[in-house]
Amino acid sequence: MRRPKGYWYPPGLLYDLAFLTMFRGLRRRVARAVEDGRLYPWLDVCCGTGDQLRDRARGRARGHVPLVRVPVLARSRGHVPGVRVPALCGNELAIGLDLGFGFVRYAAARAPGVPFVCADAARLPFNSGSMRAVSVSFGLHDKSPESRAAILGEARRVLAPDGRLIAVDFENPWNAASRAGALVAWAIERLAGGDHYRNGREFLRRGGLRALLREHGFAECERRNIEFGSLGMVVARPL
Ligand SMILES: C[S@@+](CC[C@H](N)C(=O)[O-])C[C@H]1O[C@@H](n2cnc3c(N)ncnc32)[C@H](O)[C@@H]1O
Repeated sequence: MRRPKGYWYPPGLLYDLAFLTMFRGLRRRVARAVEDGRLYPWLDVCCGTGDQLRDRARGRARGHVPLVRVPVLARSRGHVPGVRVPALCGNELAIGLDLGFGFVRYAAARAPGVPFVCADAARLPFNSGSMRAVSVSFGLHDKSPESRAAILGEARRVLAPDGRLIAVDFENPWNAASRAGALVAWAIERLAGGDHYRNGREFLRRGGLRALLREHGFAECERRNIEFGSLGMVVARPL
């Protein structure tokens, strides 16, 4: 059978090759947080290869790829019109969103039936209060402080009053095992280099995920500290 366009996107393949197995447990934990709270609709921003939502494609026929491209919104100024959340997947709608069109196309090709949107997480094309979960994994540490603020501001805007932010990102190490884990993270970040690396170091100097969420008015409801990689997985509510 012919593969959908984007199925062999090299950066997506490389990312999956490097991290698919490593992040399996994390993906399960994020999905469980959504599932346990029945937090739908669920928006995964900075979704990259779409790995987080891939298991939601199980059982769907390959071929139909609902792919939405919103290139103008990312660049437009002023009013951004809201896009109504489609009633696509019954009452368990989950949507992936990324700024990179190659990643979005790859994600959609690998998860048939799951909607992916190409747009800026700092200017979300969704109505206020339309999501009950927004997740962001490894999508904050590499940004400038202004971008992080904009992304968290948008997450807050689109979340319903009882909605939850689910964030996975780096923390400063808290024990010997997490110090070893932080070394692995440092090596990967060093390979990424450039602004990604510099922003990541600055993110930790400011106190990591814990401090960022506090600074932007999110209160932690649940936290899991993961020594490998020196990571935090946090379920938080907007204050
Ligand atoms: C390190 S990857 C993380 C991918 C995925 N969340 C994961 O856990 O594997 C960061 C992703 O954020 C995307 N990205 C960067 N800036 C963005 C923005 N302003 N809006 C949406 N996505 C963005 C990049 O294209 C990239 O795919």
